[in-house]
Amino acid sequence: MNKTNLTNLVNQMTLTEKVDQLLQLAAAFYSDKAEEKTGPMSDLGLNEDNINNAGTTLGISGAKEAIRVQKTYMEKNRLNIPTLLMADIVHGFRTIFPIPLALGSSWDLSVAEKMAEVSAKEAAVSGLHVTFSPMVDLVRDPRWGRVMESTGEDSFLNSRFAAAFVKGYQGDDLANDFSRVAACVKHFAAYGAAIGGRDYNTVNMSERQLRESYLPGYKAALDAGAKLVMTSFNVVDGVPATGNEWLFRDVLRDEFGFDGVVISDWGAVKEIVAHGVVADEKGAAELAIKAGVDIEMMTTCYSRYLAELIAEGRVAESLLDEAVLRILQLKNDLGLFENPYRGADEWLEAELILSDEHRQIAEEIAAKSIVLLKNEQILPLKRSEKVAIIGPAAQTQDILGAWSWQGKQSEAISLVTGARRLSKNIVVGQEVFDYFEPSQAAINEALALAKSADKVVLALGEQEWMSGEAASRSDITLPEAQLDLVKLVLAQNEQVVVTLYNGRPLDLRGIDGAKAIVEAWFPGTEGGTALAKILWGDYNPSARLSMSFPESVGQVPVYYNCDNTGRPYESDPDEKYVSKYLDVSNYAKYPFGFGLSYSQFDYESLTLEDQVMTEDRNLRGSVRVTNQSDVAGVETVQLYIYDKVGQVTRPVKELKGFYRVALAAKASQVVAFEIDESMLQYVHTNQKMSSDSGEFELLVGPNSRDLLKVTFALKKNR
Ligand code: BGC
Repeated sequence: MNKTNLTNLVNQMTLTEKVDQLLQLAAAFYSDKAEEKTGPMSDLGLNEDNINNAGTTLGISGAKEAIRVQKTYMEKNRLNIPTLLMADIVHGFRTIFPIPLALGSSWDLSVAEKMAEVSAKEAAVSGLHVTFSPMVDLVRDPRWGRVMESTGEDSFLNSRFAAAFVKGYQGDDLANDFSRVAACVKHFAAYGAAIGGRDYNTVNMSERQLRESYLPGYKAALDAGAKLVMTSFNVVDGVPATGNEWLFRDVLRDEFGFDGVVISDWGAVKEIVAHGVVADEKGAAELAIKAGVDIEMMTTCYSRYLAELIAEGRVAESLLDEAVLRILQLKNDLGLFENPYRGADEWLEAELILSDEHRQIAEEIAAKSIVLLKNEQILPLKRSEKVAIIGPAAQTQDILGAWSWQGKQSEAISLVTGARRLSKNIVVGQEVFDYFEPSQAAINEALALAKSADKVVLALGEQEWMSGEAASRSDITLPEAQLDLVKLVLAQNEQVVVTLYNGRPLDLRGIDGAKAIVEAWFPGTEGGTALAKILWGDYNPSARLSMSFPESVGQVPVYYNCDNTGRPYESDPDEKYVSKYLDVSNYAKYPFGFGLSYSQFDYESLTLEDQVMTEDRNLRGSVRVTNQSDVAGVETVQLYIYDKVGQVTRPVKELKGFYRVALAAKASQVVAFEIDESMLQYVHTNQKMSSDSGEFELLVGPNSRDLLKVTFALKKNR
């Protein structure tokens, strides 16, 4: 359908039909069992008509069910408008991939694109049309449980990942390629900056910081073509995002040129009342529609009050019409008017979902996401060594992570299962080992196994419920019982490798005695296979942290691109009156960009062809990277820039490029790069991007801490 036809369709709709088009309801409302929907219906004060005409749904899936719902819906819809099926497919549909924070650790954009493509394929054959992903909120506080959904603390890296996710989900031709789904970037904006890492808490930052650090990720997703934007639960400069006209009309629509659909987060329109900037739901509806929120998810402020607001002249009907048009446009972009069932296909569903091919991809992606944090000549393990695999996470299948709606733990491969496929020389316990309160029998058994083995893999971590939405923690160390276990095991055997499953950077005090630490995150369905292959050296670790691990939770937030301050710590850490703590350094335990490999990479000869660049003349440079080891590996060469004098204070370094380089044993490569003026721009006090003449440092190396340095200058004509 073209735009004129869609506009004609809007013109044929009654006011009630238009208002209903803005309502999104969850699966229960579409159940074919009457008893399942009556409760939710009366809770929300909805009648059958509202449900039959609600424009979109959330959380329905399965080809058979999707086809049934669509068929029933269209039979009842006077104008034959199809409904639209959305859900959270965040790191996989049924084949579960590592959590996004782990994907961020891959520093490999093809990983994100591939995982999104496979997720879309599985979701689309199950009848879904839209995924509420990617979540690109910049995160600096690991106490916040939702850091697991983000790719980390850096806006440059997040932006690159955001674009890759969108490309993978949407492909190039949504209207005809039914193996893809539309992407919804979230949560606009700055949800990741919740004070104290407490979920749903206030966000407070300057417009300049918002623009410089927080908005680029969303913008990158939009530039890559994301079809929808979801609002966030927080306030932006005191106004709830979901009713924030400046944020959605001025910035998102006018400045970023976004003409797709804006959807509220779950219940967020009604929550404007609790925020206290309107007195009632009617006020919330007014604010949200004026801000340009098209779809209200799971509350009914629009359904109840929009018509009234229009009749009273408080809201122009044109605002409703434009929202409806955008929703119909999205349905049209997905090809739903011609093909209301779109990709839903029971036969393909059986064929594709959790196929061997998808499992294999999940394994490879997990392997690229597992970060080797420490290794004192203990890894990789040898098949000739007797290895005890003990601890609460040894045999667990709780490795999928919080956004694995359709994933089944029973289909996940545990570490022990993965290890058994690799080595016959492993011993494991029979007792169930609890994460928090292990029985004495389980502890005794684990210690006996540890003593009997050459090496110990001590599998620790968080359970799925401990990260994700509404899962903030003030203490981000491992549970006490696990820390006790580390001590007891070390007393039996010093050859200990700790593996970790978790959804956030942890405060790792208490496991320092281990000779190796392997951060496996929540690695998804094939997590145990990938982790075992990393441990035994079948995969060489290549991942790098995309979010810093603090030395202690008291430093949080600790992130690499901090400001220098007027009393920099580096100037003299022993001096009292510098910006510091009395009891801990300012540094992360494992900084952004950090990760080890079984190869040994050395950096030398960082050079620039010139020392001065202009707006028209880029600077070319290079660095030599050599694999000194006998093992082939992949190195991520990271390029940072420090702007020594800015109009406003500049971070001590900012990531501006990275290059993944595969190097055979003993091989060496000159990695070339180019610096252009756009890389030196930042948001000035006029809220616009520009650069300044002056001196800069170029820093290149394997992580944000261990860097070679040269200086150069930018000379601008104006
Ligand atoms: C979350 C969103 C999610 C939505 C729908 C909300 O609680 O904040 O990220 O997309 O629920 O499930």
